[in-house]
Amino acid sequence: MTILVTGGAGFIGSNFVHAWLAAQAEVLVNLDKLTYAGNLRNLHALAGDDRHFFVQGDIGDTTLVSQLLATHQPRAVLHFAAESHVDRSIHGPMDFIQTNVVGTFHLLESVRAYWSGLGGTAQQAFRFLHVSTDEVFGSLAADAPAFSETHAYEPNSPYSASKAASDHLVRAWHHTYGLPVLTTHCSNNYGPYHFPEKLIPLVIHHALAGKPLPIYGDGMQVRDWLYVQDHCKALMRVLQAGRLGETYNIGGWNEKPNIEVVRTLCRLLDELQPRSDGQAYANQITFVKDRAGHDRRYAIDARKIEQELGWRPEESFESGLRKTVQWYLAHSEWVKEVTSGSYRNWIGQNYGS
Ligand code: NAD
Ligand code: TYD
Repeated sequence: MTILVTGGAGFIGSNFVHAWLAAQAEVLVNLDKLTYAGNLRNLHALAGDDRHFFVQGDIGDTTLVSQLLATHQPRAVLHFAAESHVDRSIHGPMDFIQTNVVGTFHLLESVRAYWSGLGGTAQQAFRFLHVSTDEVFGSLAADAPAFSETHAYEPNSPYSASKAASDHLVRAWHHTYGLPVLTTHCSNNYGPYHFPEKLIPLVIHHALAGKPLPIYGDGMQVRDWLYVQDHCKALMRVLQAGRLGETYNIGGWNEKPNIEVVRTLCRLLDELQPRSDGQAYANQITFVKDRAGHDRRYAIDARKIEQELGWRPEESFESGLRKTVQWYLAHSEWVKEVTSGSYRNWIGQNYGS
């Protein structure tokens, strides 16, 4: 048996690849374009594991994707590949439309052609799992109930609008063509291999480098944080037992304002790697201009996945954040390579031309 993962060199994708190969004997084909966010170093520990088959390529390359599907005959496709950073989507939305919307369309068409040609049981058993985000639902008022699966779509950023568009395509490919899809909406993840452009790894990196810790606006925007390995377990459970055509919200039951997240990180760093001058890392906190169109609050109601599929997050925010800080402290080389850009030379160095 084989599964195909798209975007498996990124943050969540690479965590998923590790989790999958640790838990299953199946082959995993990993299709990733290796944009700035894709990093083969994340998969370094899998060198020599012939169950992991990496292919550099674009989800929108229908010739390549069709060939991969025909050759490897996966029983499922898990679609992580996306442009994922809100701030980048504000400065340059084009790549988001290209990959998240047009790329997902091409992927769906390649997968539909493959799935249509499968025999009875293989066709019935096939799944396309689309990994989406809570950001498609827009922003919540402070006292509003958390997002349920039926919450109206109100995306506010180019990123969330492009993800919403891809969700609609996935839904339509199920309703119109019968493609056996599952869609998940997850809240903000954190953990190992998180690219240091996102809040948590950026703050750890800047703190250790003695740089300002930039807080957008008043820092009171709320996110619902989930440890990435909990997300990976939820995806495995949805793939295994999710009902066809359904959507599942995945969240941490863990709403925190950004300023509290940053202060907690500073305290952890004070304990685990104190500043040489004895000062608190919190002294580096700097309030900066707010993000344009900044969503105030996200919160996930994750009761459906718990009631139907028995999944709940295992990690608490305190334990997950501590593990994350410890991981970054133990992997300063990884951070150095990512922030210097040298990780992008690695393929050339390792594989030649
Ligand atoms: P990421 O930016 O870290 O990784 C994205 C990966 O996709 C990279 O390896 C990149 O090289 C690859 N990629 C980009 N364009 C591609 C293309 N055209 N063809 C093939 N590969 C391509 O993102 P992430 O944080 O790991 O997010 C993974 C998925 O989960 C995304 O779909 C995102 O919308 C969703 N999501 C993320 C979060 C979060 O907190 N990070 C929360 C909910 C949902
Ligand atoms: P981010 O990690 O970019 O995730 P998302 O925008 O998908 O939620 O940001 C998390 C929150 O942290 C968001 O409210 C924006 C805020 N933020 C800052 O205050 N400063 C920063 O430097 C960054 C990157 C984010």
